[in-house]
Amino acid sequence: LNIQVDKSVGASSPILHGLMTEEINYSYDGGLYAELIRNRTFQDDASSPVHWSIAANDKNAATIDIDKTTGPSTALPLSLKVSVAAASTTDPAGVQNDGFWGIAVRPHTQYKASFYAKADAGFSGPLKISLIDNSTGVSAASAVIPSLSQEWKRYSVVLTTKDVKPSAANHFALTTTHPGTFWLQLVSVFPPTYANRSNGNRQDIMELLAAMKPSFLRLPGGNYLEGDHIPERYEWKKTIGPLVDRPTHPSPWRYHSSDGLGLLEFLEWCEDLKMQPLLAVYAGYSMKQEHIDAGPALEPYVQDALDEIEYVSGGTDTKWGAIRARDGHPKPFALKYVEVGNEDWFDKSKSYDARFAQFYDAIKKSHSEIQVIATTQVTSRQPDVLDDHYYRKAEQFFDDVHHYDKTSRTGTKIMVGEWATREGEPTPDFNAALGDAAWMTGMERNSDVIIMHSYAPLFVNVNPGGMQWKTDLIGYDAMSSYGSPSYYAQVMFSNHRGTQIVDSTLTNADKRVFYSVTSDPTKGVLYLKLVNATATKQQLDINLNGAKHIALSAKLTTLHASSPTETNSITEPRKIVPTDSSLSNVSSHFSHDLPPYSIQVVELNVR
Ligand code: AHR
Repeated sequence: LNIQVDKSVGASSPILHGLMTEEINYSYDGGLYAELIRNRTFQDDASSPVHWSIAANDKNAATIDIDKTTGPSTALPLSLKVSVAAASTTDPAGVQNDGFWGIAVRPHTQYKASFYAKADAGFSGPLKISLIDNSTGVSAASAVIPSLSQEWKRYSVVLTTKDVKPSAANHFALTTTHPGTFWLQLVSVFPPTYANRSNGNRQDIMELLAAMKPSFLRLPGGNYLEGDHIPERYEWKKTIGPLVDRPTHPSPWRYHSSDGLGLLEFLEWCEDLKMQPLLAVYAGYSMKQEHIDAGPALEPYVQDALDEIEYVSGGTDTKWGAIRARDGHPKPFALKYVEVGNEDWFDKSKSYDARFAQFYDAIKKSHSEIQVIATTQVTSRQPDVLDDHYYRKAEQFFDDVHHYDKTSRTGTKIMVGEWATREGEPTPDFNAALGDAAWMTGMERNSDVIIMHSYAPLFVNVNPGGMQWKTDLIGYDAMSSYGSPSYYAQVMFSNHRGTQIVDSTLTNADKRVFYSVTSDPTKGVLYLKLVNATATKQQLDINLNGAKHIALSAKLTTLHASSPTETNSITEPRKIVPTDSSLSNVSSHFSHDLPPYSIQVVELNVR
């Protein structure tokens, strides 16, 4: 490996590594969004209150039904009607919820429970709110609302656990000791959240993301942006403000979205992890081949996108900036990249070119600072950035690592906004990590033109029925989460970023050995990313040409598996993780052995 230390062949994008997200595989509901109650607004199934059941020793003691005639708001015009026929202090009755494959309960923890309710004349409570162990029936924490009003009203309590065993085998119950009828809506329980945000995110998953040091978040999708049908698109205006004013919506991934993680929550997620938002706006195409023709019919959609941009980045003196302030965030979010649509190459009517032009012109007219991203080739305008997607096998990535070597450096930049080696499920195995790492060396060596990339999908709930798309970066259940080998490959690349792409060539190496070299001259650091996708040790002769000073030792980070099918899982979350060591034989010409099936980062001090 010949490296001309003092010669940069281009600046490496400072925002190369980022995240892509959408509601898929229970990414938010049952995933990142910390809500513990499933089907909290009773809309998951129009005909029955799924995940809710009678809580009583005698199941005939009560009935539950969706009541479409009453609810606490215009957005939530329905509710769960609970009619308790028989209840007493010794035999309480009510409803229970089974959570997202259980409810994680931990010792000495506070849970914020809340709900909207109204009572029938003749019933005034009390209501007991509890977290209950599924097998013993013992309550881990409870609180009582002494009486209910006959008008819709919000109630809230804090449930505090004592010295309980951490477990997800729990359910939530809301019971009474008196017969009577009451209605419920927006029943919610939140554990402590990351950065203590109300309506916030799970701590463990956010910590995994924070370790990736991502530069941007591509939101809100993906197919989730488009919806199957135009009325099922991501309507951002319906995802902001108080939860009770969010109507929720069906998603293309075959389950209903609570929209608890709405537009502002996406932005706060960015804020918490110091990422910039990359906002994808709905561009008039939904997945079942429905589109809006460019021209007057598309205007309201263009205006909606302009409003969205204003909500994200406008001052409080603008209409939508003021609404963001009303929602609790006066400070605007910096917004530099806006993507028009998603995967519009699927639109068989070929309407994208004209639709893109209409969005492009409108965005540039009011926001010349914004870089506009196209989802497929267009000729009507020159997009600032083009979003390329790749879902492949490792072999395909190995064979194509030079894909962008000859791409024009003067025209449109590239974002690889979705990509993954699809081997292993629910999360990728080590061979996939090798494919990913090889592909990342290619992206890094071309990171003057590839300005951003984001793996997809990011999340999967590993419970049966939790996965709609195989091979996802991070897996979890109600209790815990883990990173796949591919996740750790991303962590290694993102945590060792150079500012310059260094002139380098690899000769006489096995075709399954991959590399990239970047440097940060102000720090005097050179980063070698090395991938050995073979079953044997590979010796590399490394020549550091043009260096004035080379430190004898270097930091070495290694991700390695004994077989390519090895992987991490919910039960073995840390089987494959990076290990740190050092090299002590560094000089201008030194030899380095790459272990079989390995991904390495060498951090050299070179000036
Ligand atoms: O990442 C899963 C899906 O793949 C995305 O929603 C879509 O954009 C792509 O086809």
